[in-house]
Amino acid sequence: MKGLILSGGKGTRLYPLTYTSAKQLIPVANKPVLFRVIESIREAGIDEIGIVVGGTAAEVKEAVGRGGRWDAKITYIQQDEPLGLAHCVKISQEFLGDDRFVMFLGDNVIQGGISKLIGEFATSGWNSQIVLTRIDQPEQYGVVVLDDTGRVARLVEKPKNPPSDLALVGIYMFDPSVHKAVAAIRPSWRGELEITDALQWLVDNGYDVRPHIHRGWWIDTGQPGDMLEANDLVLEELDYKVEGYVDRDSQIGRRVTIERGAEIINSVVRGPAIIGENTRIINSYVGPYTSIYHNVVVENAEIEHSVILEFSKIRDIEARIQDSLIGRDVVITRSPIKPKALKLTLGDHSQLGIL
Ligand code: DAU
Repeated sequence: MKGLILSGGKGTRLYPLTYTSAKQLIPVANKPVLFRVIESIREAGIDEIGIVVGGTAAEVKEAVGRGGRWDAKITYIQQDEPLGLAHCVKISQEFLGDDRFVMFLGDNVIQGGISKLIGEFATSGWNSQIVLTRIDQPEQYGVVVLDDTGRVARLVEKPKNPPSDLALVGIYMFDPSVHKAVAAIRPSWRGELEITDALQWLVDNGYDVRPHIHRGWWIDTGQPGDMLEANDLVLEELDYKVEGYVDRDSQIGRRVTIERGAEIINSVVRGPAIIGENTRIINSYVGPYTSIYHNVVVENAEIEHSVILEFSKIRDIEARIQDSLIGRDVVITRSPIKPKALKLTLGDHSQLGIL
């Protein structure tokens, strides 16, 4: 089988993470979502992976490279306009050939990975398998109706009145019959070739489309949601792993990851938490559900349930920093210079809660 990851779309400014305009590169628990997608495809034993790229192609290519890091062979497929998920299949035909494949949206992550599902599909005679999950407000998603025998009967993209509570998670498995479907469908009202229409075409023409109902968590970072919440869910999965340096005066709890080159000096880190490469934690407390990315300094400070991105520095802060999302290259420090006042340089869309 092959893997096809969709990482196209237009670049948008993602506040407060304005250093990346590709939503697939947003880090969750110190790893871009797109890397998590590549890993779950590799875990399923697939090493030929195509990535559809659009307006943010340069950023995505720079971050992912040729795939050596995952022992995978990566082929980039350029999509000039985001004309829909089925359009992505259409332009990837040369790469896909006659192989069965899994298509994975580059901004989605599900708990537990996809190895089992891929194994099931690879050896089945099914034409397609789609992953569904029950949610309360499915109107922002593709929604699926099953028939009495549990087979897929109907699919609607973002319906105003959802006919069921089963939403399409961004993971789809296909055999080559999908190429007939994408050739047969026409663009929807929003001008996109919809994968839901291609799936409906398969169902209507007697092809076997199987549903799999996923029961764990699912993150769609494409939806404006809570980055802290996504971070919480992924941190829960981490094990204890210390690749950096922890001095004798420090205490490291269970489910803490200390990445390469990180240093923990006279500090307490309680898990689940992750400390990125070359980050230094000195005389500080890092509490549960915290992700501190690479090359950060935290000194004489306390931080809990927060995300801190690269190259930021937090020094000499008495109040505990909590429930916070701190971007890249941010400096938070105590100023000795009078008058005693808050001195702020906050970017667009910043939010500050003061005691
Ligand atoms: O997240 C699950 C949902 O994903 C499904 O429930 C929907 O049925 C499906 O249409 C899709 O809806 P979204 O509105 O969330 O799709 P979005 O435009 O965010 O695109 C998903 C990913 O695919 C994203 O990483 C960008 C990429 N993409 C999208 C389009 C439309 C492309 O690479 N090319 C495209 O033309």
